[in-house]
Amino acid sequence: MTTTAYDVSTSTALRLVDVHKTYPGGAQPVAALRGVTLTLPSGSMTSVVGQSGSGKSTLLNVAAGLDVPTSGRVVIGSQDTTGLSADGLTRYRREHVGFVFQAYNLIPHLGVLDNICLPLVLAGRETDPVWVDQLVDALGLADLVARRPGELSGGQAQRVAIARALVTRPAVVFADEPTGALDSRTGAHVLGVLRATARRFGQTVVVVTHDAQVAATADRVLYLADGLVVHDEAGATAEQVTTRLLAIGR
Ligand SMILES: Nc1ncnc2c1ncn2[C@@H]1O[C@H](COP(=O)(O)OP(=O)(O)O)[C@@H](O)[C@H]1O
Ligand SMILES: [Mg+2]
Repeated sequence: MTTTAYDVSTSTALRLVDVHKTYPGGAQPVAALRGVTLTLPSGSMTSVVGQSGSGKSTLLNVAAGLDVPTSGRVVIGSQDTTGLSADGLTRYRREHVGFVFQAYNLIPHLGVLDNICLPLVLAGRETDPVWVDQLVDALGLADLVARRPGELSGGQAQRVAIARALVTRPAVVFADEPTGALDSRTGAHVLGVLRATARRFGQTVVVVTHDAQVAATADRVLYLADGLVVHDEAGATAEQVTTRLLAIGR
């Protein structure tokens, strides 16, 4: 049995209840999220798509606890993060949430293995070599552990970044345009590896992408338009995602 560091007694990994986010603008405030309610089951992978400015990054940042909603509730695992202090939220995030960024953000002078284990070091946690080995194998990185980031292709670098995001065994992993710097096929492959790995270890994944092929690797696709989830589709193909995006005015 695979052990996890978080509470798996609940089958809901993430819950947003009527979440609003308004940025105080110069002349006029911007309502980036206008009442988003959603529930993501543990172990699922969800893509978030929608045109530029529809609120995807805002949704991800608020759901991940990087930013706070103007109103509404964000529950990660069994923790309602809305009532936490800024410090409490940071501590919670460090323990329970993982991130993958478009730009990999690997440390150039550290080897692949040290890059993967960095979040454990930063959190002052022990490195479990058996777990790290499992992760390295699952992401197909066994032959690359001695390299430095400069010696990796984009797809390889992003798989290292994914291993780094999963190493603390977060309940939820958030990725904002993680394949934005990769070609569509490599991007879909990397996301497929992320999905398989996360599923195997019971982790939940939320991915923002503008790429239909990448979006279709998820179990479920959420379509955002103007700060609202306007459609929610399970098991969509890339063609269905493209058609739907056109229909909602991408
Ligand atoms: N920090 C911010 N301050 C003010 N407005 C913002 C900020 N971040 C995003 N916005 C605005 O909120 C809306 C949604 O943005 P965003 O969530 O980045 O959309 P997406 O990721 O889908 O492109 C846009 O109108 C954007 O200009
Ligand atoms: Mg964005």
